[in-house]
Amino acid sequence: MTSTKQKILNLLIKEAPGTISGEKMGQLLAISRTAIWKGIQGLKDEGYGIVSHGKSGYALPYLPIVKKKIHEQLTTTFLGQKMQILPTISSTNALAKEEAQQKAENGMVYLAEEQTLGRGRLGRAWSSPKGKTIALSMVLTPEIAPMEASKLTQIVAAAFVDATKDLADVQIKWPNDIVINGKKLCGILTEISAELTQIHYVVIGIGINTNLSLAEMPADIQEKATSLLQILGKEIDPNRLIARFLNTFESYYSDFIATGNYEPTLQICRAHSAVIGKDIYVIHQESKRLAHAVDLDEQGQLIVQFENEKETTPIFAGEVSIRGTQGYI
Ligand code: BTN
Repeated sequence: MTSTKQKILNLLIKEAPGTISGEKMGQLLAISRTAIWKGIQGLKDEGYGIVSHGKSGYALPYLPIVKKKIHEQLTTTFLGQKMQILPTISSTNALAKEEAQQKAENGMVYLAEEQTLGRGRLGRAWSSPKGKTIALSMVLTPEIAPMEASKLTQIVAAAFVDATKDLADVQIKWPNDIVINGKKLCGILTEISAELTQIHYVVIGIGINTNLSLAEMPADIQEKATSLLQILGKEIDPNRLIARFLNTFESYYSDFIATGNYEPTLQICRAHSAVIGKDIYVIHQESKRLAHAVDLDEQGQLIVQFENEKETTPIFAGEVSIRGTQGYI
């Protein structure tokens, strides 16, 4: 990005979500209003969601994700020390996998203000309208067996619970959703590239509905999804939440990789489970079976008792999804 565009962007970020006039920007940067106008067009072409408010100027009408602001609050040793923030991208997971195939950099983080083809588990779509959600993907190269990778999803979920404890009392809908009041707030998508016994890399994508109003949600998910804005009644700073999440996740993750200690995660996942103790549907392809969710075993698998069965069964996250008997959960 040219330095003029970067300087204009910095002014818009400083002012966001407020408006700053072209005249004022011109004065501050000692350049003409035409140069400002050109810079703004260039930034728009790159995908920045700048809006023009006639004479009063230009605005980024949302709280932007800013590397400097995240780094000021980051206490990690490797995670997010290198990050790329994009105004728009098809999917941060797709980008992270593409880049990891060339060279997997442990701890690399990708963030986007908008995804045009965001993806969820089991091939579902994930909506990330500009400036309203956090779309984050991280690349990890853990030396663990491929079978253990599903534990990483649970570690993310536990870290998210911890990182948001001052904001809201969220719950984990096994295996990969974070819910609040029975509605989805955040989804986790863990994808691995591995041989039978060795992981090449893991890409974990997290989609968080931060500042998304009900009206901005696709109609088909309004019933089952929510956002921090809808829960708290005010916008939250995405940079603070990103930093807190990365700090917390790195701590649990590093402990797990170094010692195999998965207990803190299990404790959080059990204490904040949205399913344990409930009747649920276990859905696998065309089959939908009623079961009682009993517990999580020490591998993080959900133990259920299917209707009309005496024995309990551990279910592996793989291809399965869970629904509540009355609704989403
Ligand atoms: C799910 O609920 O099934 C998982 C949703 C995961 C969405 C995130 S957003 C960042 C990353 N990029 C994607 O395309 N998906 C994940």
